[in-house]
Amino acid sequence: MKVHTYDSVPEIKEIAPGLFHTSIPQPFYAPNNIYVIVTDEPAVIDTGYIQNLGLLQQALKKIGLSLKKLRHIIYTHDHIDHISAAMTLRQYTDAKMYGMAGMAAAVGNFTDSILIYQRGMNRLVYKAHRDAESRRIELVKSEKGWGAFLKSVKQGAKVNPIIHIDVELVEGDVIEIGGKEIGFIHTPGHNRWHMTPYILGEGIYFTGDLVLENISSVYADIDGDLSLYRKSLERLSRLPIKRLLPSHGREPESPQRAIKLLLKTLAILERGVARRLKEKDHDLSELVLASMGEKVKGSDYYNTALAIIHSMIMKLVSQGQAEILEIDPPYERYRWTGPAPDISDAGQKDEQTVKSQIVPEKNRRKKTKPHTEPGITQRRGDARKKVKKQLKNKNKT
Ligand SMILES: [Fe+2]
Repeated sequence: MKVHTYDSVPEIKEIAPGLFHTSIPQPFYAPNNIYVIVTDEPAVIDTGYIQNLGLLQQALKKIGLSLKKLRHIIYTHDHIDHISAAMTLRQYTDAKMYGMAGMAAAVGNFTDSILIYQRGMNRLVYKAHRDAESRRIELVKSEKGWGAFLKSVKQGAKVNPIIHIDVELVEGDVIEIGGKEIGFIHTPGHNRWHMTPYILGEGIYFTGDLVLENISSVYADIDGDLSLYRKSLERLSRLPIKRLLPSHGREPESPQRAIKLLLKTLAILERGVARRLKEKDHDLSELVLASMGEKVKGSDYYNTALAIIHSMIMKLVSQGQAEILEIDPPYERYRWTGPAPDISDAGQKDEQTVKSQIVPEKNRRKKTKPHTEPGITQRRGDARKKVKKQLKNKNKT
């Protein structure tokens, strides 16, 4: 785990009148974007990873605030890089904490919930790898990430693993904060408790992990749902969003284009999984590498890639279009059981056409480079290199 010192205090910048942004490092994925709504009742959206709460404090100081001065803390969802700081926050602030109704009760002891999450991710590793050495490499990586967190909270004297949410929000709630009205919509899929706060009348939406520069993890076995993820994205695509502020990565130039491109990327990946299964049986690891490139295996994005592709396979299984071959449990392979394959390269041509339609090539290179490879880039050297480089730099959400 990286240890951050106060020699590298994050920048904090005003990105709209009374709205500030800072980027706080964390060990699991790209740094957390923390948004600060500055009124006479200062509010933040998410508080980041527990060990880097001090960095948020230092960033707040740059604009005359502090954790103590915060009055409202809004959580988009219960993932470790968004909410684990809440385990220790109560000793620094009396701010009200907000989150989706039912989230805190379902999570219970946050440390225990992380152990459950870790086991879930390890199940995917076992499903994907028949070879013991490959499994061991991935399991060691998993232990390194989650183990560091568990060790740190165990050693923290003032850590309370029970996260208490003061205001349990439901879809449609609006709260008033220092003259601004903050609305909430329920946007499940990446995580079942995911909410998208927004500032009424301003078109500013804090979209958490829904719309990232790369595809979010959607882990069907734990807290994700691919069809809900798509529905949440489709809902966002119809909203009058002027500023789409994600929890990781850059703010997209065009919110609507970013959402639509993500939806198309998902569709292309899904078609690629189906096409490859139609060609022959595959296991999860093979499908991940074929869809996202060989280098994803050595990257911290690998678990996220396993989760999203596994969700796509499970969708095909639930639709009766694929079956699980339990030839060496828990390792699995998958076989196409749907309609007979199309003529040889029809699927690839379709993928190529869709990608060309998303954004013209010259614009795509400028503005849409973060999106994951939808299979077809295997025939496009430049684009493939770019996507794989991005994947290498990504970790898990
Ligand atoms: Fe997340």
